Amino acid sequence: MCGIVGFAGKEEAAPILLDGLERLEYRGYDSAGVAVLSEKQGLQMKKAKGRLKVLRALTDDGRSLSGHVGIGHTRWATHGEPNDVNSHPHLSQNGMIAVVHNGIIENYLEIKEFLISKGVSFRSDTDTEVVAQLLEYYYASSGDLKSAVYKMLHRIEGAYALGILCVDYPDCFIAARKDAPLLLGYGEGCSFIASDVTAILKYTREVSYMADGEVAVVSASGIRVFDAMGLEIEKERHTVDWDVSAAEKGGYAHFMYKEILEQPEAIRKTISPRLKDGHVFFEDLKLTAEEIRSLNRIFIVACGSSYHVGVIGKYNLERLLRRPVEVVLASEFRYADPLVDEHTLVIVISQSGETLDSMMALRLAKKLGARVLSIVNVVGSSIARESDDVLYTWAGPEIAVATTKAYSTQLTVLNMLGLYFAETLGTIEPAEYAAIVSELQALPARMESVLENTEPIQYLASRYFNHDSVFFIGRNLDYALGLEGSLKLKEISYIHSEAYASGELKHGTISLIEPGTLVIALGTYTPLFDKAMSNVIEVKARGADIVALTTESRCADMAKTAENVLAVPDTHLLLQPSLGIVPLQLFAYYVALQRGCDIDKPRNLAKSVTVE
Ligand code: F6R
Repeated sequence: MCGIVGFAGKEEAAPILLDGLERLEYRGYDSAGVAVLSEKQGLQMKKAKGRLKVLRALTDDGRSLSGHVGIGHTRWATHGEPNDVNSHPHLSQNGMIAVVHNGIIENYLEIKEFLISKGVSFRSDTDTEVVAQLLEYYYASSGDLKSAVYKMLHRIEGAYALGILCVDYPDCFIAARKDAPLLLGYGEGCSFIASDVTAILKYTREVSYMADGEVAVVSASGIRVFDAMGLEIEKERHTVDWDVSAAEKGGYAHFMYKEILEQPEAIRKTISPRLKDGHVFFEDLKLTAEEIRSLNRIFIVACGSSYHVGVIGKYNLERLLRRPVEVVLASEFRYADPLVDEHTLVIVISQSGETLDSMMALRLAKKLGARVLSIVNVVGSSIARESDDVLYTWAGPEIAVATTKAYSTQLTVLNMLGLYFAETLGTIEPAEYAAIVSELQALPARMESVLENTEPIQYLASRYFNHDSVFFIGRNLDYALGLEGSLKLKEISYIHSEAYASGELKHGTISLIEPGTLVIALGTYTPLFDKAMSNVIEVKARGADIVALTTESRCADMAKTAENVLAVPDTHLLLQPSLGIVPLQLFAYYVALQRGCDIDKPRNLAKSVTVE
């Protein structure tokens, strides 16, 4: 989604803003802009449709704009087409106020009409422009910027993270937040705001997370924060331990490839602090054994790939806990009147911790009395902060839009949580528990061995990259795996692809199979291996090209029927998808590479979906 960065310091602001925006490029955008303030030259603004390089060229890499205070924005169009005028920042009518905004102002039309009736004329089609115009309107009558900001915030409805410059205040800018992420960064003699910590990681690791309703006045000498009532407050500071190099490509052609390779290490980091003497423990978990025993239902709620982790979680947790576990898309859960009470645990899974639907599902669950535990990658994100418990995935910054290492670490945490609950509930035999723990420890090395042998996957990608329709079929955990394999392929290669539970083929889908259709047949779930084989025979008989994925122990059997077989090491059944996903990620990557797609920034997609 849109990205915001703001700077106040002693250096020239524009180059720093452009650098920050570049680090937010991965979130997806269609235009970008910056505005800086200086006492001598006033407010200067440049914005342009297209990639950041257009803005760089327009500003001579920022050198043509002079000032030590500024705000920048990458836009992902919601209201009004992507063009130069609709790009942010937006100016008020007299040009004294500039605003950047993430989120949606829901009542913007009503405010726009009101301002038009007062003689204000608008330049853009955006909801954001009303913020700048309304602020000018209130500022003109009070002459006090802070109180005008509060008045404006009381009038607008919806979600916002805002950065605001005003010509009368050349030493500072204002930030405000509600339901859209915004953090404050504390540097040496300088201060920042950013919608995402990666934008400012190069300059500071000291941050605070703004809460809903808060307003900040940001200047080189420090940041003053006020609550929704206007009272000054002290913000807790956090040190971000993400490595800057983790957010850089480091010689790889794409972040996605780098992040696929980082998975074993990310899983190691996620597992090792939580295993002690052969047992899983979660240092920060507040949920007590008694509370775990009192749960009669678990919901897993998430979107996209995080939801696919939840689908695996449903199979695994039900098996381990003998309790009903439902997995629901967050966008459905929030409008579904779900059966949730104080004996329900709602597990929210989100890499970014900012996905709006997941956030709203969380709030609904809490309102209905459920206990909420989230599995999140971004420390201090909104979902993490609003959950009763949070278990972090230690994947580090994930920059490619298509998730890989966050998916894998989410899955690892969910499996560990299942083990922890099962031991607490006494629903697992000690020998079974020990076997899973031991396989969990071996997982990173096994994954490394998959990553060492990518040539067969590359070969298959070069053979099939020009297919225009692909089916992923599998049963049980293989079905869940197929959902993610299919999403990876379609989102980065733009090939139409569907995942089906193999048992459903005969209920309609098989009519789509014709000579040359590519079917990725998943047979890593060994208890149903024979059924997977039967389905391969079935689609092969209709002329499909088959790429089968199974385990090393079943590879020879599968090769009797399928002409192309990929194999991953055998592991405990519950952990098998953690290995199975790697060839599917790589297949999607190599296919997209062959097709010349923009792998790290697929069209129409954003990394963090903070609007509905
Ligand atoms: C796909 C992908 C998305 C996200 C989804 C949820 O590769 O990354 O489907 O999984 O947008 O995002 P988070 O996990 O941040 O809530």
